Amino acid sequence: MHRKGFIFDLDGVIVDTAKYHYLAWKHLADELGIPFTKEQNEQFKGVSRKRCLEILLEWGELKVSQSQFNSWLAEKNEDYLQYIETMTASEILPDVPKVLNFLKEHNVPMALGSASKNARPILKKVGLIPYFTSIVDGTQVTKAKPDPEVFMIAAGELKVMPQHCIVFEDALAGIEAANRAGMTSIGIGKKEILTEARYVFKDFTEIELKFIKELAEL
Ligand code: G6P
Ligand code: MG
Repeated sequence: MHRKGFIFDLDGVIVDTAKYHYLAWKHLADELGIPFTKEQNEQFKGVSRKRCLEILLEWGELKVSQSQFNSWLAEKNEDYLQYIETMTASEILPDVPKVLNFLKEHNVPMALGSASKNARPILKKVGLIPYFTSIVDGTQVTKAKPDPEVFMIAAGELKVMPQHCIVFEDALAGIEAANRAGMTSIGIGKKEILTEARYVFKDFTEIELKFIKELAEL
């Protein structure tokens, strides 16, 4: 038996903030006259704020000064922050507490592995800070997903070997990062999109505790 570690992405896995990121990007894209669809937004999931803006500007074939870039980056984040300001525990995705509580009761170490620089305040708002032994967010990583850095740091902090870590992710880039780290990847979302994931579930309501127990080797 090996000690297992569970690593959770935040946006779109634990909380329903993926829709707010989309709305904030859509708002900016409309303002700049750049078409932006929900399909395109899939490519922004798990990707750092800065990189998302670079991609958006590439799509719009816009070249801008550093100060203009920074000002749009700040605008997107301010817009996003307005959505999350009033967030409560009601925005924790269905059946996530079921899994977190089960793992906590069994003393299985858990980490957060998110590209977001807003991860800590969001976790605080929804009251989930105490569940995590380690919180690795966008303020600590230098290489964005699909680079495995964020999950490798989390595994290190949990003191669990990468091959004994299980990662929950809703982003293509995040699944790739978990796979590259040699971890077990669990996709939360659509099978047609998360094709590289080891397992895929629509959401946590589809995940039985029996499955979690097996993964954790309890
Ligand atoms: C998560 C989301 C991305 C977002 C990134 C940075 O990974 O899936 O869509 O761009 O975090 O978030 P931030 O809150 O720092 O802008
Ligand atoms: Mg996500």
